[in-house]
Amino acid sequence: MSTTTATAKSVTSDKTGAPFRFAERAGRLKPSAIREILKTTEAPDVISFAGGLPAPELFPVEDFATACRDVLTAGAEGQAAMQYGVTEGFGPLRQWVCEHLAEAVNLRCTPDQLLITNGSQQGLDLIAKVLIDPGDVVLVEDPAYVGALKAFDAYEARAVGIPADELGVRTDALRHYLRTSATRPKLLYLIPNFQNPTGVSTSPERLREVAQIAAEYDLPILEDDPYGRLRYGGQAPPALASLPAAAGRTVYLGTTSKIMAPGMRVAWMVVPDRGLYEKLVPAKQAADLHTSTFTQRVVWRYASRPGMLDAHLRVLVDAYRRRRDVMLDALARHLPEGCSWTRPDGGLFLWVTLPERIDAVELLQAAMAQKVAFVPGQPFWVGEGVGNTLRLNFSNASEERIDEGVRRLGEVIRRA
Ligand SMILES: Cc1ncc(COP(=O)(O)O)c(C=O)c1O
Repeated sequence: MSTTTATAKSVTSDKTGAPFRFAERAGRLKPSAIREILKTTEAPDVISFAGGLPAPELFPVEDFATACRDVLTAGAEGQAAMQYGVTEGFGPLRQWVCEHLAEAVNLRCTPDQLLITNGSQQGLDLIAKVLIDPGDVVLVEDPAYVGALKAFDAYEARAVGIPADELGVRTDALRHYLRTSATRPKLLYLIPNFQNPTGVSTSPERLREVAQIAAEYDLPILEDDPYGRLRYGGQAPPALASLPAAAGRTVYLGTTSKIMAPGMRVAWMVVPDRGLYEKLVPAKQAADLHTSTFTQRVVWRYASRPGMLDAHLRVLVDAYRRRRDVMLDALARHLPEGCSWTRPDGGLFLWVTLPERIDAVELLQAAMAQKVAFVPGQPFWVGEGVGNTLRLNFSNASEERIDEGVRRLGEVIRRA
């Protein structure tokens, strides 16, 4: 048997210069130009309002050290924490999440409806993996969370933006789309609480209307709620997934990232439909077998200690409320006429609209020269991009640096 020419073809490079020939869908995976600019924001002399980072000095490091020690020294638990686990997630953690959701957002579920994921980002990916065929429509608020847009885009979804205002997603526009469009969307993706990027919450009336419309049009909903527990004013509404009209058709995503620590990568999805759950489990299995058994147990040890998480949330809410107030006050003092911004009741972000002639991507270059950073609004927009918008994070910098950063930003805008 001759083997002399058998491999000649497979080692030939194509025009990428490498032996790797990308799948067609990889054409959609592109580095972001804005992320490249923002890489430099990690320098200590830059005041960054760019990332969605919690305050590192408030991480419950000591309590997690105790939880780690408890996991590793409790006899067989230490060994189990180092062993493979089930894809669905660690049972006691799923039980705790059910109790937590019933209390916090009035969402009743059972552990067998819960899938523990590697961050809620994985929940977004898994839903897209299981539901989206190329060209399928996903409805999103416009502007929308970039990470979700990227997850949907990787499976070749067509995102359609539904406009939003200060009360959240516009139900008249949603109804109009569903009434007039020939295509039936696969999903409606919403962040009802303190949306990323705008900080706006969808009002309880709008949520009820969304549930009603979804029931009328048989539309599945993906409710993403990483920020709901970071509330600095007003009443917490029940989860959209808990409203009778939405209950059987809404997948709910929650996460430890903003209430404990994003480095844990522990999150959950509540899946009301058994058929969908039974697709999501093998989809996750193919991705990573399961979320780290060790971190799931550490999170459970931490979260199930009576009063522990509530006490931590009080610390976070107090500190972030002050930082939000400092930012709002600084914006009022330092931003020139013609600028406006949202006043969120919680979460980590607010959204600034600049005078129309100013382009926020160009402004970022000038701001970086003054060592202050933000995220231009452009990547969040789905429909007609609005170039004169930007997102500011208020959780990561200290109160003094927030004031100084906004002062610099005001100067840069005035010059522009
Ligand atoms: C709206 C939204 N969904 C999901 C995520 C991802 O969160 P996680 O850290 O749980 O993957 C983020 C992160 O910032 C977010 O803002």
